[in-house]
Amino acid sequence: MKNKQQHAATQAIRANQLRTSIGEHSEAVFLTSGYVFDSAQEAAQRFAGDDDGPTYGRISNPTVQAFEQRMAVLEYARHGVATATGMAAINAVMTALLSSGDHIIASSSLFGATIGLFDKVLARFGVTTSYVDVSQPDGWAKAVQSNTKLLFLETPTNPLCELIDIQAVAQIAQQAKAILVVDNTYGTPVLQNPLLHGADIVVHSATKYIDGQGRAMAGMICLNDEDMHDEIFSIIRTAGATLSPMNAWVMNQGLHTLALRMAQHSSSALQVAQWLQQQKSVSQVFYPGLDSHPQQHLVEKQQSASGGMLSFEIKGGRRAAWKLIDRCKLVSISVNLGDSRSIITHPASTSHARLSDEQRARCGVTDSLIRFSVGLEHAQDIIDDLAQSLN
Ligand SMILES: Cc1ncc(COP(=O)(O)O)c(C=O)c1O
Repeated sequence: MKNKQQHAATQAIRANQLRTSIGEHSEAVFLTSGYVFDSAQEAAQRFAGDDDGPTYGRISNPTVQAFEQRMAVLEYARHGVATATGMAAINAVMTALLSSGDHIIASSSLFGATIGLFDKVLARFGVTTSYVDVSQPDGWAKAVQSNTKLLFLETPTNPLCELIDIQAVAQIAQQAKAILVVDNTYGTPVLQNPLLHGADIVVHSATKYIDGQGRAMAGMICLNDEDMHDEIFSIIRTAGATLSPMNAWVMNQGLHTLALRMAQHSSSALQVAQWLQQQKSVSQVFYPGLDSHPQQHLVEKQQSASGGMLSFEIKGGRRAAWKLIDRCKLVSISVNLGDSRSIITHPASTSHARLSDEQRARCGVTDSLIRFSVGLEHAQDIIDDLAQSLN
């Protein structure tokens, strides 16, 4: 559990540092797929779980475990389970905890691949999903069915930055005896700890802010419940979406600067959002730190800052959106987010392109919507680039 006397900034650097007998100051990386045992008996004991030493790379690696343990501390969780990507984390939770005939309730606004996983993959195995309009909080209770097993939400959502009251949904999940899973990719454990608001499981695409420099893919699952942990871990070791030790090491390095970066991302994003609001060609800006944001009160309730992601609607549809994107000189055209470099994305034709028109409409992804990941360049330079592009 989290040491209450230390701040997230300290724990992201210091918690559960693995150090070998040679006393290296920086974290070691153990690039090995197998381990050597002293005897056949020791191998058998390890595989039987009587000795907690490592067994095989798909199942255990000290560098991966160091990342898992640090993330667990940051999320106030007993367990962390690392995965190869963020989608692997979401898939592992679903396949570990759901069976044919079960029902999911999810927020209408979600990352495109998550919707694809629910509607195309899980649906084939007899798991159904109902979507709740984020602007209608009472929709969660109304959507509960006798077979509802799991509630899933992002907050802030990708790409509209809508906020959902985690505590309120957690109460509904509890009444329905269902599991609440929160995707905390946009928030990171520095801005938000969903388990403290009643969620059962937190998932991350660590590919984003945890890495922070767009170098490696990773996912993370944090939770307290022992039985659910065992089910999820069993899926990872069996189905094999294991995180590589090299990527775990990159993530551990990313954690060192996470708190500093999230403060800067948040401060610059607010400046960019306020500037965008004043532009005649921009019809709407979605950023939780703006007074115009419909759920701004939830920032105070469950977040320590508003984060580095925003989106906006430009007048003139897809043509105008693409024109603005193509004219950016400093800002990168890419689909990643949470990078030190600012990134501009057209969700309708990239991250949400594989969805049907109806699915896209449900997420609020229009042709004129632009997603913007505010990087760590000076805020004025980001604004200047957008200004030259808009003009
Ligand atoms: C909110 C959210 N969840 C999950 C994912 C999936 O993460 P990954 O690309 O690491 O699989 C993403 C990716 O953009 C995301 O934005």
